Amino acid sequence: MARPRLRYALLDRLLGAGLVPDFALRAGSIYGVGKVLRRERAGGVEAAQQRLTELVARKSRGPIAVATDTANEQHYALPPEFFGLFLGPRRKYSGCLFAGPDSTLAQAEEASLAQSCERAGLEDGHDVLDLGCGWGSMTLFIAENYPACRVTAVSNSAPQREWIEAEAERRGVADRVRVITADVNDLELEPGSFDRVVSIEMFEHLNNWKEMLRRVSTWVRPGGRVFIHVFTHRTVAYLYEGTWAAERFFTAGVMPSHDLLLHFQDDLELRERWIVDGSHYSRLASRRSTSSAASIPTSAAPASHSPTGACSCSPARRSGATGTAASGSSATTSSSPAAEPGLDSPPCRRERRGAGRDC
Ligand SMILES: C[S@@+](CC[C@H](N)C(=O)[O-])C[C@H]1O[C@@H](n2cnc3c(N)ncnc32)[C@H](O)[C@@H]1O
Repeated sequence: MARPRLRYALLDRLLGAGLVPDFALRAGSIYGVGKVLRRERAGGVEAAQQRLTELVARKSRGPIAVATDTANEQHYALPPEFFGLFLGPRRKYSGCLFAGPDSTLAQAEEASLAQSCERAGLEDGHDVLDLGCGWGSMTLFIAENYPACRVTAVSNSAPQREWIEAEAERRGVADRVRVITADVNDLELEPGSFDRVVSIEMFEHLNNWKEMLRRVSTWVRPGGRVFIHVFTHRTVAYLYEGTWAAERFFTAGVMPSHDLLLHFQDDLELRERWIVDGSHYSRLASRRSTSSAASIPTSAAPASHSPTGACSCSPARRSGATGTAASGSSATTSSSPAAEPGLDSPPCRRERRGAGRDC
């Protein structure tokens, strides 16, 4: 077998030339994910618990984010027009919600954004921080649908800021939208200045969840809430390492398990958890891949990840004691597709209709 670098370079060439058919991408994905899951499950439950303990320790130290330039090169500093080729009209670069068989991508974006606002307990008049704002899907949705809300959007991408500012102007909400370009490592905000913090699919990029959550807890007002949405694997949490996806697409990323956030409650107490069935992500990946195939003949489009979990947290007692999870409406079925060439987001073997997938 060729060395990884050579294999990745070969795969890049084939993808760039449009020579990898969809069925081969899917087969490669399934193979790659199977390999990662076998690795993560090796040694039985005792070894798996040890790996989880080590992962939690690793996610509790060091800089909040690492390899930030690489993430920008791979995604966020690319021209917004590129993302227009395969994302929906709101350029939501995260999970969407397909309510029915005929739902369009535009409707699926709106449905997911509305659901997140509802689950975050957002009320008109709130000051909101959108941490890891992408091209402003949530920021602009809030500004348009909650006419007394003020939104601060943060990401480390100048093209994203320019895009959001222009869109906010065009949609007539610029007076209530502020966009900050900053690496979260260096982000400084006024303590106690937000009623809600929302973060949609940014934590997967972060290295030190504990410190990020500590800082977030200082930015929330008393009585405020934090809503975090991540894609998840049902049971296994792992780092993206040693695969094409890790090298080219998601360097320093993590696949959280549905429970991973429960281990980080020093400063925020988990109040509620939800899960979105991974079939929604599967449909999203298929839509994106269809539209990118139509519009980008010579390039592989960044595909999406997997199932999505979300939770709502509020500041814990400042004693430093770990809060207990009160997951009033948590659900247990998880799932996940992935359409990435390479192969370590989990695609799934469908078990039986309505029972989710075994990932
Ligand atoms: C997967 S995108 C999600 C975007 C958006 N929330 C959405 O749903 O469309 C992740 C976002 O996190 C931002 N991000 C990743 N690492 C970051 C860092 N170190 N500092 C600031 N923003 C970061 C990216 O620029 C991007 O905006």
